[in-house]
Amino acid sequence: MWNTTLWYLSAMVIVLAIYYNWSRRRMLALVANMNAPPALPLIGHSYLLLKFTSTEAIAREMRNLVQKYPSPLCIHLGPLPHIVLYEPEHMQVFLNSPHCLNKSLQYKFFLVDRGLFSAPASLWKGQRKILNFSFGPAIMNSHVSTLNQKSAMLAELMEKYVGQKERDFFHSIALCTLDTIYCTAFGCDFDLQRQPVGDLYLKLQAEYIDIVTRRVFNALFYPDFIYRLTNAYKKQLEIMDEGRLFISNIMSARNVDKVLSSPKTQPSKTENDDRKPQNFLDKLLELAQENTQLAKEDIPDHLYTMIFAGTDTTATTVSNVLLMLAVHQEIQERVYQEIMAVCPAKDQQVSVEDVAKLLYTEMVCKETLRLFPVAPVVARITTSDIQLDAKTTIPNNTTVVGAIYPMHRDPRHWGPDAEIFNPDNFLPELVAQRHPYAFIPFSGGPRNCIGVRYAWLSMKVMIAHILRKYRLKTSHTMDTIGIEYSIILKITGGCRISLEKRDHPTATQ
Ligand code: HEM
Repeated sequence: MWNTTLWYLSAMVIVLAIYYNWSRRRMLALVANMNAPPALPLIGHSYLLLKFTSTEAIAREMRNLVQKYPSPLCIHLGPLPHIVLYEPEHMQVFLNSPHCLNKSLQYKFFLVDRGLFSAPASLWKGQRKILNFSFGPAIMNSHVSTLNQKSAMLAELMEKYVGQKERDFFHSIALCTLDTIYCTAFGCDFDLQRQPVGDLYLKLQAEYIDIVTRRVFNALFYPDFIYRLTNAYKKQLEIMDEGRLFISNIMSARNVDKVLSSPKTQPSKTENDDRKPQNFLDKLLELAQENTQLAKEDIPDHLYTMIFAGTDTTATTVSNVLLMLAVHQEIQERVYQEIMAVCPAKDQQVSVEDVAKLLYTEMVCKETLRLFPVAPVVARITTSDIQLDAKTTIPNNTTVVGAIYPMHRDPRHWGPDAEIFNPDNFLPELVAQRHPYAFIPFSGGPRNCIGVRYAWLSMKVMIAHILRKYRLKTSHTMDTIGIEYSIILKITGGCRISLEKRDHPTATQ
């Protein structure tokens, strides 16, 4: 009896598997000729996951695969093909295709699906077009004095650690980026670097990112009906509940309900008119008042997104830059000299014009973002076939992964010393010889980072304020620095540095 049932069930599974593959025969034929390591029946390349004993092992394996197989690589996770790209030409086609604007399944794990970062392309398109205005040059100029004030406060608050043992300054820097985003993007100054509420928000955000990262790396928890049974899901909902309080505070400080119930005044369609430029929340409110592109209920998702996307990314990069400067003393000295030549006095504002002159500082930041891109991969799902090159078509409804991290370390683009920290990689003559998509820490194409201009301005202002006051030291060497490969790529154990105070002029502007 049992034997017959087992035989019957096995036969059913085989028939269903054959039917499933037959129904996908076109897709399977298109990916059949792509490069791929040997696969096993049914589970495909999922066995590779067994090698992933740590997130660093993932990074290592990715680099091994990239060295061994030319892009595109096809990895079957169970029955699902994932096309991995790391050739700049392929990245350019992928990121600029109008059929590659939807984010992959994993972005849904944030449970924030109405904000720019994860919204479906149909919703995202209209919103992004309008929200671009709140990150244009005019509004950036209007943020400079806040960025300076908050960066000066960060440098001041770091003073208590002068002469102390090495520590990771990520938390202090993230408080500064959080404080700044609240002021610049939402128009709310809550003094978050000095009030405990800032610490609390960052703690919640770190726990949230950890929960989402664990789900991303555990395919067992991909189906919602399984994940909803886990403690992680319960915890995720609890954190969201707590997070809502922070969002309500912003909304009440800005009288969102009152603004939305009053008739719309002052229509604003372009950035180049002579009214005061609108910050991100102003622009959201305008959209919600027009009631065409955005519902009031979408506003919290946009605020969460902006805090997440604008805080950890910039703070992680600045922490990494400080560590690189501490490891490479001669490079630190050059950056310091450049800052002292452009904006020497430690209580002097760093203007937009000054920022444009900090060219070597920018090369150092770029080199840091090359070796440690905070977003190591971006992933989308195709909504039509895409002609990648003369030989390759990516089928509709397939996940495509843009592997930024291995591409940034590929000797074919960066030479035999690709693993070595060398800001000269960004000398203009070398940049001119390289494909523009060989370096894409902010992604590329229409769905790139909306905050790229803001990120550059805030990073350079912060670094100038810190370096004018302190000399950075560390016991780390490049050999002792490892990485954790998660949603945000981090340096293992944090960026531990110590501070020495510098003596120099204090004249005001
Ligand atoms: C060093 C700093 C930063 C880096 C390296 C960075 C990198 C990126 C990358 C790679 C993406 C694409 C992600 C994907 O497709 O999965 C992205 C998207 C995004 N970033 Fe950034 N980012 C930085 C700072 C910022 C800042 C300061 C803000 C806001 C103030 C911001 C807001 C966003 C938003 C809203 C998106 C989603 C854009 C969309 O889908 O239209 N980012 N960022």
